[in-house]
Amino acid sequence: MTSASAPGKVILFGEHAVVHGRPALAVPVTQVHVDVEIRDSSRAGIWLHAPGIYLHAELSKLPRTNALRTVIENVFRSLGMVAAPSLKVTVKSSIPVASGLGSGAAVAVAVTRALSSHLGYPLSDEQVNALAFEAEKLHHGTPSGIDNTVITYSRPVYFIKNQPIETFNVGSPFTIVIGDTGISAPTRESVGDVRKLWEADKAKWETVFNQIREIVQAAKNAIESGKWPKLGPLMDENHALLQQMTVSSPELDRLVLAAKTSGAIGAKLSGGGRGGNMIALVHDSDAEKVADALKAAGAKNSIITKIENI
Ligand code: PMV
Repeated sequence: MTSASAPGKVILFGEHAVVHGRPALAVPVTQVHVDVEIRDSSRAGIWLHAPGIYLHAELSKLPRTNALRTVIENVFRSLGMVAAPSLKVTVKSSIPVASGLGSGAAVAVAVTRALSSHLGYPLSDEQVNALAFEAEKLHHGTPSGIDNTVITYSRPVYFIKNQPIETFNVGSPFTIVIGDTGISAPTRESVGDVRKLWEADKAKWETVFNQIREIVQAAKNAIESGKWPKLGPLMDENHALLQQMTVSSPELDRLVLAAKTSGAIGAKLSGGGRGGNMIALVHDSDAEKVADALKAAGAKNSIITKIENI
């Protein structure tokens, strides 16, 4: 038996602008994860079990576009395997689907690692990341690659599309509360809508993306130098720009407001927007209060997580 796990992730700053070449900051969230187990089987074929999504099927019976099928077939292809072995693949996940916590990328990373190790040819981080990026394209259309990168390396990442991976140091740990609207919103659509805005007025949106780049830069400096309370106003500014980009929603705005009025230092949506998650920066002593306020304001779930070097 071979097993592998992958964490969830949140984007702290820079979503959407990152698709347009600006930097973004993302961190792993280890409270939620995907766990994969692979066993040799006496039954012919590759049997997939993902109880969370009620999937119990043989690989070749799934649609060719199925994400899990694509991930597994990509591993076989990259290992140069022609005949499929007989295996039982079990995928369990505590990461909510389509909510901005990176569930698709985490499944791809954990399955790729477990499968390549089980077959005796463990892939390098770079290879795992490249295969997970292929899988991300199925979910997102034109992803920047930030999700698969932060999840593969499981480290805080300062990410610029098509650039070598750069991790960053957390000078002093800090706490964020993640609030889930419970609304699943396809990132592909919000990314497409931002692209349409940009196409209609490139000068305006280039300026907005540049403002976000400044925010990301300031946030990275604050995190590295241990001055994390400075992130609060930067989150508020980044959220206002995301609102302008039309990727917030009444539910996200309600949670952001609830976080702020219950003591958060700053708050913003995180990820693709229009639903999914928001994050709030808190003093440790306020974390429970803010988490409760988010639930009272309609959050389906909240997670308190410490951002620190892993
Ligand atoms: O919805 P998520 O958390 O997977 O984040 C998407 C982040 C975007 O910047 C909106 C898209 C991307 O590919 O970077």
